[in-house]
Amino acid sequence: MKILGFAGSLRAGSYNKKALRVALQGAKEAGAEIEEIDLRELNIPLFDADVEEKDGLPKSVKIFKKKIEEVDALLIASPEYNNSMSGVLKNVIDWASRKGEEGTKVFYNKPAAIITASPGRFGGLKSAIAFRPVARTLGMQLMNEEVQVANAGEVFDEDKIVNERVEGQLKDLGKALVDWTIRLKKPQNQPTS
Ligand code: FNR
Repeated sequence: MKILGFAGSLRAGSYNKKALRVALQGAKEAGAEIEEIDLRELNIPLFDADVEEKDGLPKSVKIFKKKIEEVDALLIASPEYNNSMSGVLKNVIDWASRKGEEGTKVFYNKPAAIITASPGRFGGLKSAIAFRPVARTLGMQLMNEEVQVANAGEVFDEDKIVNERVEGQLKDLGKALVDWTIRLKKPQNQPTS
């Protein structure tokens, strides 16, 4: 099973990237193959319907969509900006939600989990709340379980996580995503014996 992670923050020292990596590690320990995409490196432009109409999807968006198509599940981490998800995250989701000439809807039925991290005491909760209706609109199989990393400045020392409780929560989320993905792949309504 392959799990792809990305964070809606471009900065190198992003708490969301750090939290994402811990959760991805949990998924790896549960047997998944993991990959992280750095959205800064992908350099997706702002959504522009004129560009879409004239040239189709930009190459960076096609690469992003292909990565999503190739994996079994997504781990997404988002900062909270002004009580919502980051514009970076929303922008890449908006682009990737477009069918393009290939006609693919990459988020449909895709198992996923959301993490948020913030230096504040609510851990970016409203970002996750804002993310849920978007995920529902796109048909993602978003897990009910999620993790908020509050006071993120104290949870990480450089790149290392120093709060064992939060480390456990993040790893458990990664593991739960593996279980959730396996459960969703099982044929439904089969006799149990
Ligand atoms: C923020 N930040 C923030 N934090 C929060 O808990 N609630 C909020 O509503 C906001 N709003 C907000 C708006 C803007 C424009 C910025 C730049 C920042 C602070 C934010 O949580 C902090 O910068 C995080 O460190 C961003 O996440 P990364 O980059 O560390 O992953």
